[in-house]
Amino acid sequence: MALASACGESRPSYPERTPPQGFLQEVKNQQAGETLFKQHCTECHGKPSEGRSPRADFFEPPAPDFYAARYAKIDPAYLFWRITHGKTVEPYLSKGSVMPSFGPYLSEEQIWQLVSYLRVRGGISNG
Ligand code: HEC
Repeated sequence: MALASACGESRPSYPERTPPQGFLQEVKNQQAGETLFKQHCTECHGKPSEGRSPRADFFEPPAPDFYAARYAKIDPAYLFWRITHGKTVEPYLSKGSVMPSFGPYLSEEQIWQLVSYLRVRGGISNG
């Protein structure tokens, strides 16, 4: 990605994908994503109510903080790719990541719902 390398950030290449028009902005998709996140992701990434989980730093590499502002602007295709493949692709494989691949367990629609939730997460107030 030209943009990422211009910022000095090295991101691996991932397939370009786009969700259906307007999908990420729909509140019902963001809410469905929040439900999925609570079911599958909080054990490592932290519950919405606790902010960044203390468990996040337990991992090497650590689990990221989805409240970081950059997630509001991150390429949805990147999130889709990471959630689908997790640690099974490079460079995460060699780094010893524990991020699971959810491609085999979730539908594409559910993964886009998670993406839509992560991109607004900082802005959703929840308990
Ligand atoms: C077993 C613990 C664990 C679970 C469960 C888990 N993750 Fe992760 N995740 C991690 C760790 C550790 C990393 C950081 C290492 C990496 O990028 O592979 C990570 C990285 C990520 C990234 C990449 C972030 C970035 O900025 O590059 C995304 C996106 C992500 N996780 C989403 C999810 C979602 C969505 C779920 C639930 C469907 C989930 N994770 C479940 C541990 C986990």
